[in-house]
Amino acid sequence: MPIRVQPIYPDFAAEIGDIDLAQPLGDQDWAAIDEAFHRYGVLVFPDQSLDGDQHLAFARRFGPIEDSAKGFAPDNARLRLARGIADVSNLDLEGKVWSPDSKARGFQLGNQLWHTDSTFRVVPARVSLLYGCAIAPVGGQTEFADMRAAYDALPDGMKAKLEDLVVEHSITYSRARMGYVDFGPLDQGGLGKVPQVMIRRSERTGRAALYLAAHAGRIYGMPDVEAKALIDELLAHATQRRFLYLHRWRQNDLVMWDNRCTMHRGRPFEDLRWRRDFRRATVSDEIPSCERRGLAVAAA
Ligand SMILES: [Fe+2]
Repeated sequence: MPIRVQPIYPDFAAEIGDIDLAQPLGDQDWAAIDEAFHRYGVLVFPDQSLDGDQHLAFARRFGPIEDSAKGFAPDNARLRLARGIADVSNLDLEGKVWSPDSKARGFQLGNQLWHTDSTFRVVPARVSLLYGCAIAPVGGQTEFADMRAAYDALPDGMKAKLEDLVVEHSITYSRARMGYVDFGPLDQGGLGKVPQVMIRRSERTGRAALYLAAHAGRIYGMPDVEAKALIDELLAHATQRRFLYLHRWRQNDLVMWDNRCTMHRGRPFEDLRWRRDFRRATVSDEIPSCERRGLAVAAA
């Protein structure tokens, strides 16, 4: 039986049925998923049963796996999940709900800000695949913004102004917004301040998208006061209700998104009460976004 693609909005987010991602994909199913992914930006696969290897095997169809622990945990650190799978749960190493003073808790609160994954890395994330093994009964949704539709809705003059801008991203910018300052030696892991293009264009569809996140802090060649105002204005524009999809998780949903043309944020839940076990495989975009666009980076 061919897979079923059920759009949630005409050009944004779709559910995919009649597919078992634990099994190797046939060419026809793969082509249909790949096509849907580039059209809708966010895909929801309900009722999956995946171990870490199967999760990673599906992710690898989209490109090389990013080591999400790099820069945050030493190479020999004890982790709850296999290396290559990011732990976005509220659990400690023993699988128990974290304590109020957990360092990971403070850090993950940053995921409640609008962002796209790993723009604080020189090579950002292309695709994220998040698997909800245990969900909170109330809250904890993930909200997505369609950055292609947000771009399309901008006035032509603004599009022209943004076209060749380069933005400085750093996890320190987003975490500082949360009042979190204890980073440790982040620069050793390649998590300093990095340049990213403001506008990305899909090599597949040709559609342009705003490329922004709470990690964005400065714009190259622009006074900081002006840059901050512009970033805040664009974030507010892109997160208007008309560009959003709110995903209410069911246990065993796998949700994947294109980080090049969407933003997302986690919604709050009672994290000291409910067990939430979420696991993310992340596909790297392979080369820096400025290099992909052929943009030279001037000093900030
Ligand atoms: Fe994220």
